[in-house]
Amino acid sequence: MEPWANLHQPVMADELLHLLAVRADGVYCDATLGLGGHSERVLERLGTLGRLFGVDRDATALGLAKSRLARFGERFVPIHGPFGELRTLLAGAPPLDGLIADLGVSSLQLDRPERGFSFQTAGPVDMRMDCSQGETALDLMERLDEQSLAAILWEYGEERHSRRVARAIKVTLSNNTIVDTLTLANVIAKAIPQREPHKHPATRTFQALRIAVNDELRQIHSLLLAAPLVLAPGGRLVIISFHSLEDRLVKQHLTFVPAVADAHRSRGSGITHNPFVALAKGTVTPSDAELAQNPRSRSARIRAARTLTVEERTQSSRREPAAQEPPWPH
Ligand SMILES: C[S@@+](CC[C@H](N)C(=O)[O-])C[C@H]1O[C@@H](n2cnc3c(N)ncnc32)[C@H](O)[C@@H]1O
Repeated sequence: MEPWANLHQPVMADELLHLLAVRADGVYCDATLGLGGHSERVLERLGTLGRLFGVDRDATALGLAKSRLARFGERFVPIHGPFGELRTLLAGAPPLDGLIADLGVSSLQLDRPERGFSFQTAGPVDMRMDCSQGETALDLMERLDEQSLAAILWEYGEERHSRRVARAIKVTLSNNTIVDTLTLANVIAKAIPQREPHKHPATRTFQALRIAVNDELRQIHSLLLAAPLVLAPGGRLVIISFHSLEDRLVKQHLTFVPAVADAHRSRGSGITHNPFVALAKGTVTPSDAELAQNPRSRSARIRAARTLTVEERTQSSRREPAAQEPPWPH
């Protein structure tokens, strides 16, 4: 077995490929290359004229993916950077036939203690996907006051005990005793009065810190604003998300809620009507077989859409925008 297989198993790969409907001469972008599992499946379907741009902000993942995908030669183009800057990263690339994103962190990141994502093993309290820049989770917790820390734990981790946890973290930090991820996890566990069944008490806080450190929701928002601008007419967008905050954002973009229309307007993107048509009703979830074989897939769900064709664009710009008002979360 290739070494990559143990590092990260691509989630819902068959469903993703089905929705992407890869064309041999098409141009694709994987905005979350990771270990290249999904990209490899796409590249296997490309002929010599096809291209896949693989983006990741994690230099270690990018290096491993480059080795894994070297056999595809010029068909594979690796790019280091945050997908929130997709238009800049893809400057000069042709319009895409498909854009995929498998959000969140990879098993490689989670399983390496030195990255600081895991509460199961001791490592530095880091959690940056791009270790070359930005503040670590420890820096963030030190910089924020107790109230702001609690707000992050509540908003990004949906942690019911956010105030207690924030207070315990700040008190421990003031004694300089949070030395690694395990100490942090123990501080959190002690602060939480009732445990949720089958969930480590630090799960929500670690998720919240990771989202904040990597500015994940803003990154996804920017990626989704860029998607209709980098996709060709009829190009396909397939997004795998792992928690409700991500999925809600994807849904809001695909249904073009007023806040998304406003964001397009304020950025002067020229997009005034929903540029997407759904490719699947609601979300697609993993099969029982995949759930049995890869428990990490249990919270994965896919939303997929294609951009309007040129003809559809002309028709829709003659219509008024739909009046739909779901709340904007941020
Ligand atoms: C779930 S993994 C992707 C795994 C990949 N589909 C595979 O099969 O190997 C998510 C990857 O996206 C990257 N990532 C997450 N947010 C990012 C962002 N804003 N910009 C660039 N890469 C990002 C992470 O570093 C990680 O390597």
